Amino acid sequence: ALPRDMEGLHVAVSAGGTREPLDPVRFLGNRSSGRQGFALARVAAQRGARVTLVAAHTADLAPPAGVEVERVGSAAELRDAMHWVAKDADVVVMAAAVADFRPVDLAEHKIKKSDRDPDPVRLTRNPDILVELVGARRAGQVVVGFAAETGDGQGDVLDYGRAKLRRKGCDWLVVNAVGDGKAFEVEDNAGWLLSATGAETALPHGSKARLASAVWDSVIRTSRG
Ligand code: C5P
Repeated sequence: ALPRDMEGLHVAVSAGGTREPLDPVRFLGNRSSGRQGFALARVAAQRGARVTLVAAHTADLAPPAGVEVERVGSAAELRDAMHWVAKDADVVVMAAAVADFRPVDLAEHKIKKSDRDPDPVRLTRNPDILVELVGARRAGQVVVGFAAETGDGQGDVLDYGRAKLRRKGCDWLVVNAVGDGKAFEVEDNAGWLLSATGAETALPHGSKARLASAVWDSVIRTSRG
């Protein structure tokens, strides 16, 4: 059994991949399964936290027991939901794979096949929700980001992670190496947990639940001052 050491904490977790609509039936998406975010939510609830899970598109995952789940589609919807729940959260975790870009135009009707060449899809930038949440952080609130990096070696991945932690301004950053069957669409995960204070903890290869537990071990120590 897990310790009930998260009682009294409200944690907000985002998970899954956003879908940016092109027309009523098509979207731009990504391969996030949502498994790591769901594991963070499930483990936090098992440890006694009140948990709100904002879930974009995921694999067919069972909603974690005792967790309030809000489903969203696009980055814009995820952004609204996270700003809302963050107002009342002690810890905010952005584990979702948020699209960096969305189509400029949303066709009202299904885009028709035609004999002429298709128009190029014009894209515009989505706001960085993590950076916004850091900017809106209330006193004592802890903000955790994720970084999925492909690198030629572990040195690269860590360096990218350190730079991203500074750029985003969050308190913690979970860095995962992705590609070659790592992290996305698989059951296991591994990486590093980087702290804005400079502490760096290896997260050994294991289940996403184990990684979630290791992340909470570190994060709750800071959220209680
Ligand atoms: O810059 P990058 O997308 O690699 O950063 C990943 C982190 O930023 C994740 O925590 C992700 O949830 C968050 N993110 C965000 N809004 C975006 C893009 C990423 O909150 N538009």
